[in-house]
Amino acid sequence: MPRSVLAISGSLRHNSSNTGLVRMAIRLAPADLVIEHWTRLGELPFYNEDLESDPPAIVREWRDAVSARDALFVAAPEYNFGPTGVLKNAIDWVTRPLGQHALRGKVVSIVSSAGGTGGSHMIEQLSGSLGLLGNTMVAEPVVQIAKGAERINADGTTTDPQIEDLISQRLAALLAVV
Ligand SMILES: Cc1cc2nc3c(=O)[nH]c(=O)nc-3n(C[C@H](O)[C@H](O)[C@H](O)COP(=O)(O)O)c2cc1C
Repeated sequence: MPRSVLAISGSLRHNSSNTGLVRMAIRLAPADLVIEHWTRLGELPFYNEDLESDPPAIVREWRDAVSARDALFVAAPEYNFGPTGVLKNAIDWVTRPLGQHALRGKVVSIVSSAGGTGGSHMIEQLSGSLGLLGNTMVAEPVVQIAKGAERINADGTTTDPQIEDLISQRLAALLAVV
């Protein structure tokens, strides 16, 4: 039976290389992995616990999209050695109410196209948090692409075939776990 994956980009930039990685993943997905791109991250309001009793429609859509899938695939840059605000905010929405949250028990796989570090700090931080929440992380092969915007286009193409190989291998690893 095919497995379903929701994919998000942690960058709102029109020419985002991480959006490119999401599109590349969709193009390279193995037959048994159905990957869909949720593109409305930037429309989520800032997390506010007061909204929990009656969350806005966009929050319900985001939570339902995560709940309905077997896994979450995240391609995101590193900002100041951590996750971007838009990504952290989106993660906070799907990790409440604790114990009944949309991301509960999901498999998560994070890749990054960033600046000099390749996103290693962002991946370490986010993986640490989600690991503590009990998520299964698929982290290999390591996909931390330094200066990725020079080689990855927002349409999912790249001048570097090694990046396509890494994404293909990561998707195979994800499929083996879900
Ligand atoms: C506010 C800000 C902070 C950044 N901090 C880091 C950083 O800590 N480490 C890093 O490797 N790159 C850093 N970068 C570079 C971005 O990760 C890089 O430009 C990346 O390609 C942006 O992703 P995108 O192409 O998907 O928009 C930073 C960029 C911005 C705008």
